[in-house]
Amino acid sequence: MQPRHIPVFKEHAVNALNIAANDLVVDATYGGGGHARAILARLGDGGRLLVIDRDVSAIERARRALHDDARVEIIHAPFSRLRQLLSERDLSGRVAGMLFDFGVSSQQLDTPARGFSFRASGPLDMRMDQSRGQTAAQWLAQVTEQELCSALRDFGEERFARRIARAIKHAMQPSAAQPPLTTAVLAELVAKAVPSREPGKHPATRSFQAIRIAVNHELGEIREVLPQALIGLAPHGRLVILSFHSLEDRLVKRFFREQARGDPYPPELPICEAMKNPTLKLVGKPRCAGVQDIADNRRARSAVMRVAEKIGGDQTATTERARP
Ligand SMILES: C[S@@+](CC[C@H](N)C(=O)[O-])C[C@H]1O[C@@H](n2cnc3c(N)ncnc32)[C@H](O)[C@@H]1O
Repeated sequence: MQPRHIPVFKEHAVNALNIAANDLVVDATYGGGGHARAILARLGDGGRLLVIDRDVSAIERARRALHDDARVEIIHAPFSRLRQLLSERDLSGRVAGMLFDFGVSSQQLDTPARGFSFRASGPLDMRMDQSRGQTAAQWLAQVTEQELCSALRDFGEERFARRIARAIKHAMQPSAAQPPLTTAVLAELVAKAVPSREPGKHPATRSFQAIRIAVNHELGEIREVLPQALIGLAPHGRLVILSFHSLEDRLVKRFFREQARGDPYPPELPICEAMKNPTLKLVGKPRCAGVQDIADNRRARSAVMRVAEKIGGDQTATTERARP
């Protein structure tokens, strides 16, 4: 049976998009389509939904599920191309709501052939977009030990990054009598290199996260898309973002804060708030999972949802500061 993805904060996220029947909405991370289906339930016949995913399997799923819905356009692309995708359709500045649900889907994580999980043996792939780019095995073969160590530390916050990087690079030497790297072999290598264990956490969790983030340029994608999302939104349009670890959330939090604060005038200048030209208004507090959310869906345990609304008015100034 195909793994199923349970959307995190589905109702909250779709409520936060504040959708009206004839709106144009973008779901930039289709995955299993749970959020997209909930968005479509709120759109009327005059509404329109663009769904984006960089994963070919997710796009095939979207085509199977939504091919007969005239309101939907399905786009296979990384979301860092959002600005181009919108301007090609003459939709820049016209989107009423955008949803980003970062990270991997259960379909990706729970399909051993995709190579994301240390829980089942599979090829060491980890690409969200299997049609291009390096697999994790190719990436590991090509990085230096120092680069691997930095990735494990920066993207996995792994305390034992140096030991793990050394063990992996050693095992990949042609002279090493090591079987070809699969997810299971890598997980075993990492487990052996780590001297102490965090309770309840597989010792390879952080390394797998770090390698996945590096292979898919995940943080670069987020950095690139945030200003593009702002440009794409209509005045009063909503941006709803779900992050699953602190590195993702930090980028979103910083971007929202800077855009809500406006132009950085020196504090001694007598500038009122409106003159600072803020481009986003924060909506509510960040939402973290409660006990019931986690009971309903284990994936929610590390989720943070942030919502912001584009401030209407002088679109020229907005566009200038947000330009990537
Ligand atoms: C957590 S899942 C989304 C789940 C979805 N909201 C649902 O309800 O089923 C994340 C999806 O976003 C996609 N994705 C992640 N980063 C992406 C990027 N930079 N560009 C496009 N798609 C991306 C992944 O391929 C994956 O299918």
